Amino acid sequence: MTNKPTVVTCGLPYTNGFCHLGHLRTYIPGDFYVRYLRRLGDDIVFICGSDNHGTPIVVTAEAEKTTPRAVSETYHAHFDNVFKSMGIAFDRFGMTDDPTNHHRTASILQTLIDRGYVYEQTIQQSYCPSCKRFLPDRYVEGTCPYCGKHARGDECDSGCGRHLEPGEILDPVCATCGTKAELREQKHYYFKLSSFRDYLLEYLPTLGGTLNAKNYAIGWVENELKDWCITRMMDWGVKFPGSDDLVCYVWVDAPIGYISFTEEWAKATNNSWQKYWCEGDRVHFIGSDIIYHHCVFWPAMLHGAGYQPPSAVVASGMVTIDGEKFSKSKGNVVWTKEDYLDKGLPADYLRYYLLAYTSHTRELDFSWKEFQARINNELVNTFGNFANRSMSLVKTKFGEVPQVPVEAEIFAEIERSLAGIEEAVRAFEFKAAVDGILLLAAYGNGYISNAAPWKLIKEDPEAAAQILKNCLQIVKACALVMQPVMPESSQKLWEMLGYTDLVETRPISDALVPFENTTLGDVKPLFARIEDKQREEMEALLAKRAEDSKKKAAGKDTMEAVIEPISEEIITIDDVAKLDLRVGRVVKAERVPKTTKLLRLQVDIGTEVRQIVSGIADVYTPEEMVDKKIIVVVNLKPAKFRGEESNGMLFAAGDEASLLIPLKDVPEGTKVH
Ligand code: 2FM
Ligand code: ZN
Repeated sequence: MTNKPTVVTCGLPYTNGFCHLGHLRTYIPGDFYVRYLRRLGDDIVFICGSDNHGTPIVVTAEAEKTTPRAVSETYHAHFDNVFKSMGIAFDRFGMTDDPTNHHRTASILQTLIDRGYVYEQTIQQSYCPSCKRFLPDRYVEGTCPYCGKHARGDECDSGCGRHLEPGEILDPVCATCGTKAELREQKHYYFKLSSFRDYLLEYLPTLGGTLNAKNYAIGWVENELKDWCITRMMDWGVKFPGSDDLVCYVWVDAPIGYISFTEEWAKATNNSWQKYWCEGDRVHFIGSDIIYHHCVFWPAMLHGAGYQPPSAVVASGMVTIDGEKFSKSKGNVVWTKEDYLDKGLPADYLRYYLLAYTSHTRELDFSWKEFQARINNELVNTFGNFANRSMSLVKTKFGEVPQVPVEAEIFAEIERSLAGIEEAVRAFEFKAAVDGILLLAAYGNGYISNAAPWKLIKEDPEAAAQILKNCLQIVKACALVMQPVMPESSQKLWEMLGYTDLVETRPISDALVPFENTTLGDVKPLFARIEDKQREEMEALLAKRAEDSKKKAAGKDTMEAVIEPISEEIITIDDVAKLDLRVGRVVKAERVPKTTKLLRLQVDIGTEVRQIVSGIADVYTPEEMVDKKIIVVVNLKPAKFRGEESNGMLFAAGDEASLLIPLKDVPEGTKVH
């Protein structure tokens, strides 16, 4: 046991997508770690929440025609429910957009400003002349200046994975409309990360957790340490102190959420958050793609603001599926709710699989085949079989639990196991810890098979009773140590052993307390096999999703040709010349009352403002249309739609009504040739 109060956190999921296996690779080990150490008597608070700010959430909200807050609340509730269903039991699951985090972020930023760690700088920022807005982060795409791969604004996510500073991306284009971005001046604030180099080089070697995190961070700091632009020009986020039009970069307020959520927990439970953040230990469980943020930027920010840095960063390896890169767009994904929980599969099986599969820092390759094999061989045939055989024999052959003391060699074996498991948990070697638990069950299985009490029962019932009592002690120990891995199954096992309390309230050391019950509870098989049919169904679902995604991608190239064959009527250039096409700008847009599809647009075509009625209201909101530059036929005979005069026509492609817009900004009234 360690007396230090410890706050354990898990990386905050963004609220613009559903929970998948990749997420669980971090959260389940975090939960296991907390559960195990608590049962050793450690004082731990377990904190997480959702990451609500940043451009991707604004982009999602725009696409869904709602607000970023509403999007965040929906996905926040999703994650909260899924985590609970998976037995991941945070003490607090907060939201970074809640007031506590706005306040704590403003306070930390103010301290950094007061201490001279923040400076103002005018930079060249991408601007879309067509959408008429600056393009922070996900609003801009281009080429990574480091590896030459396609990259998004703040991160090279298909190449080298680097964090990119505003203005760094090459050949920037607007991610919304594809227009080539211009560079325009903007005033921003920078965090003097470079001035923390010496501090970080001294601190990082002392950082606990997994070596992949620490070594990666040291390499980074030794090579390059650039100052960080910590502001973005947008509305959604935490207002930057003293500025009306800037919010802070999402990577500033997101980790501060760890502190804010601890504050919220402390307030609700009458505890002290400072006990954890100013004195004890801080352990962060994260995915290995965000090591830089947690081991470089975050400790520097904490140190600069007078807080304690992380004590340990535990970075999990990535997840692949059937050997292929995890990809939502390619359909190579296993969704926790839709593909697992909703299919009636037990949370405990996936918890076990993810913990036992491979060491925490290595890549985890998920396959339903391997999942089935692990569950059937290890849980059903070893763990469950041993527990069931032991308890069933006691019930059927003796009725009551034999009242003989457990032999010393059994306690010695359990004691050895407990020491090994604890060492592994504290070293963040979760696979080794779970292997240790399984080895104890395998030891019990071997012991009962060799001693064969079912044969001895007639000629030497006392010897058989001794063996079975020894087995019950091992089953008890297994239930106690397995609880952090499989909370539900362990509770069931606990009740089969005749206990009526919660196994999670028992210390691990109870494994060495002689088994005291005189009768057992209802003994049933603890685990059910995963049958081939079920595995095949899951495989088919995965294959179908990948196939559908492929078709969808291919369909984009072929759809027009299939749906609308090229017209057989040949026209001449004179026919084309009859169309007077102009660039127009929408100055006003409103819905035509009592219609679902019609928008009434006032379009400035240079010489006048025309009213045009267009059937695009199910694709665009009036607000979205205002200020859009579009292509308009201006010599079309006026017509009436639902009583509204329409004096012109705009161009849009496909069912999506993708608007035809000029690539470069040109004045209203410009002729289209
Ligand atoms: O990469 C991500 O998914 C981020 N939302 C993680 C944030 S963790 C922390 F810093 F808040
Ligand atoms: Zn790159």
